[in-house]
Amino acid sequence: MDHFLYRGGTLYAEDVPVAEIAASVGTPFYVYSTATLERHFRLFDEALEGMDHLVCYAMKAASNQAILKTLAALGAGMDVVSGGEYMRARAAGVPGEKIVFSGVGKTKDEMRLALEGGIRQFNIESEPEMIALNAVALELGLRAPITVRVNPDVDAKTHAKIATGKSENKFGIPIARARAVYAEAAALPGLEVIGIDVHIGSQLTNLAPFAQAYAKVAELTEVLRADGHDIRRLDLGGGLGIPYTRSNTAPPLPTEYGAMIRETVGHLGCEIEIEPGRLIAGNAGLLVSEVIYVKSGEDRDFLILDAAMNDLIRPAMYDAWHDIIPVIEPQAGTAQQPYDIVGPICESGDTFARARMMPPLAAGDLVAFRSAGAYGAVMASEYNTRPLTPEVLVHGHQFAVIRTRPTFDEMINRDTIPEWL
Ligand code: LLP
Repeated sequence: MDHFLYRGGTLYAEDVPVAEIAASVGTPFYVYSTATLERHFRLFDEALEGMDHLVCYAMKAASNQAILKTLAALGAGMDVVSGGEYMRARAAGVPGEKIVFSGVGKTKDEMRLALEGGIRQFNIESEPEMIALNAVALELGLRAPITVRVNPDVDAKTHAKIATGKSENKFGIPIARARAVYAEAAALPGLEVIGIDVHIGSQLTNLAPFAQAYAKVAELTEVLRADGHDIRRLDLGGGLGIPYTRSNTAPPLPTEYGAMIRETVGHLGCEIEIEPGRLIAGNAGLLVSEVIYVKSGEDRDFLILDAAMNDLIRPAMYDAWHDIIPVIEPQAGTAQQPYDIVGPICESGDTFARARMMPPLAAGDLVAFRSAGAYGAVMASEYNTRPLTPEVLVHGHQFAVIRTRPTFDEMINRDTIPEWL
């Protein structure tokens, strides 16, 4: 459920007409709904009620500080994957003890930053990384709290580019090697082993792979405890999928996910962490764009938008489907026609949808990409020297620009010219 609905024939973001934002900010832009972000966070938080838990928002999905502050105000922790994300979370006021550091290639500088600034735990992905963290912690006279990310070798049944839990993926250590790696970790004086971490992929639309992975983690918890490790925290990763189109069967709800967590690991008495990103932000955001031209091709019509693959790369990169709707609600019974919906960039990959059925549209009309709140703005680039897409946050009747569109000068002046030129 989200808060982007038609009212009186035009699309609203909460209580603000999307066209009004477009008139003020210009297109393209991302717009997020506070109420949707809050609702989605609370669904997870409530799904784990009764268990000691922390929902650590995977901020890679949408990392604007205004979004982080909105969630942090509800008690959210953060899952970060870089020094930059760590600093951004801190800048948004998130305390170190609520920040989990994930990622397969943390550098020593990033480790130092987080250890000095305060961190809840590092999720370790390899033995060399463990050895590096031990060295950094000892250098600072600290002990780094760690979990080890295990790779449970389950098939997440999602797009190959976002599946992470099979043995051929680069993530975590094979679960069969866990006992040896934990023994090694326990012997390193700069580390404090506190738990186990697992994350098997993103946009999962079925609970079975999660349940398989969590059952393996539960089993491993008992084994490691018997080996003498104090396993008191389980980080179960993110990955619960969202409906990208209303015609598909909906993925499981956070309540069902929570019940499955209780069933698989609830008996262990561990503190539970989860790292959802997409489900919190995905359907809380739209990308709004204007039709620049309608071009008639030989056998199809093209809608050429002012948004392009640099603004929203998911269709080009993952063949992702985003519902695209006109901002002015079509009259009931309006005949639809197929359009190829494209951006202005000179590559055929700059295509958002092929033969998409839409009501007739004309230059100047606004369209909105739904489910664009996660992995939208954060994956945008300035390819073609197109300004990075601005972001807007709506809160009831209010809206605010939370990231401005850079000017051409701002973009150009970031280059520095060597003295020999
Ligand atoms: N935790 C870890 C360790 C992760 O690697 C990820 C996502 C998450 C949590 C959050 O997963 P979520 O709840 O958002 O599914 N750019 C791709 C998605 C990449 C996901 C990477 N890792 C896309 O646009 O579909």
